[in-house]
Amino acid sequence: MNVTLFENLKQFVGFSDADVEHLRDLAAVLEPHFPDVATRLYREAQRDPAGRKILAAPAAGAALRQALLVWLRSLCSGSYDADYFHSRAQVGRTHVRVGVPQYLVIAALEIIWQELSQTVVAAGIAAPQAKLAALHKLFMVETALMLESYRESHTAEVRQIEREALEDKLREAEQLAQVGQLAASLAHEIKNPLAGISGAIQVIRAGLKPSDAHYPVLGEVLRQINRLDRSVKDLLVYARPRPPQYQRCDLSRAVERVLTLLRKEPEFERVKFEYSVARHCPPIAADENQLEQLLVNLLMNAAQASAPGGLVRLTAVGDADGVQLVVQDHGCGMTPEVLRRALEPFFTTKARGTGLGLPICRKIAEAHGGRLSLRSTPGVGTEVTVELPEQPPAPAAGADDEHTRSDR
Ligand SMILES: Nc1ncnc2c1ncn2[C@@H]1O[C@H](COP(=O)(O)OP(=O)(O)OP(=O)(O)O)[C@@H](O)[C@H]1O
Ligand SMILES: [Mg+2]
Repeated sequence: MNVTLFENLKQFVGFSDADVEHLRDLAAVLEPHFPDVATRLYREAQRDPAGRKILAAPAAGAALRQALLVWLRSLCSGSYDADYFHSRAQVGRTHVRVGVPQYLVIAALEIIWQELSQTVVAAGIAAPQAKLAALHKLFMVETALMLESYRESHTAEVRQIEREALEDKLREAEQLAQVGQLAASLAHEIKNPLAGISGAIQVIRAGLKPSDAHYPVLGEVLRQINRLDRSVKDLLVYARPRPPQYQRCDLSRAVERVLTLLRKEPEFERVKFEYSVARHCPPIAADENQLEQLLVNLLMNAAQASAPGGLVRLTAVGDADGVQLVVQDHGCGMTPEVLRRALEPFFTTKARGTGLGLPICRKIAEAHGGRLSLRSTPGVGTEVTVELPEQPPAPAAGADDEHTRSDR
């Protein structure tokens, strides 16, 4: 609140030099009544629980009464300048600070107005109407200033709340980034030994006959290693994204490879799978590993959402601009709340989910200059569409440095 507001208010109510004179004339008439005004005001305030509480504070009653008398005296002082405004602003801030409710302040101004206007009428002075009009204008200004103190404090409170919320978010983001870095380092450490273990088990299994009791056990071990490998890769892509390493990709081949991988998964064994890659679908510039990761995540989600025997369909169509991949299922679908949050990192409704699958798919799509969108109806099914341009997007500044920090 600044003095300009005060000047604008005076102008708005038409507060003139003549009003200043009228108010000066009233000083002598009103001053003897100020103690009575204060007495009535505090009597009325006692009827309100909040008023009683404020007046009950040690020394508050006397201090407030003193402040009120000062306030009343300056009302007819005739000097409605910056000092006057600042003293009013100070009173307003004090009211806010000691917790006087806004309604009590408005009620108090009304009581003071009644008392003073009745005194003017009863005094039998010259031109009472003009003097009352001047007093009334000043009361309008006073009321507006009081309200402004509350508005200001409310705005400050809202800002403070917003600032705290933002700080919380930043802290959370920093913590998440730290956890992400730690997880990424761990994942990096796990990836290579895991590949070694997987290779060794495949060699042992290849030496066994399928009738051997250990043969299916090792098959299960390999499946679990695959699962672990996927989670580790997801985490790495999420925590340390790297720019796509572009190469010409034939979609049919990528889908075939993904399917070979997925057909070993129990979730995938339960569903029927159909795919069609349109003949005119052009090869696109993409990172084959990332593209496969995207397909695996979307197809796994679709399979996990489907009832046994459910149909999961992948279609790819394209033209000179790029391709559109659609993964469709007739599974449980998503509620509006799940749909809203499905792309948030770590959001999952699954007991063993990490909640990174979809966010990673989106990251991969966007890194390729494309986009991912979801459509889902509970009980009907889900459709995930990924659009990828035929050409890679122009590299961002500094992208070359990133290549040297590649994780794979
Ligand atoms: N096809 C789908 N049908 C129904 N719900 C889905 C589908 N795909 C994703 N969701 C919902 O979105 C959530 C987030 O999916 P996302 O792939 O990110 O993580 P997740 O599948 O839970 O875990 P993860 O992929 O790490 O195993 C899922 O938990 C599920 O509730
Ligand atoms: Mg998933």
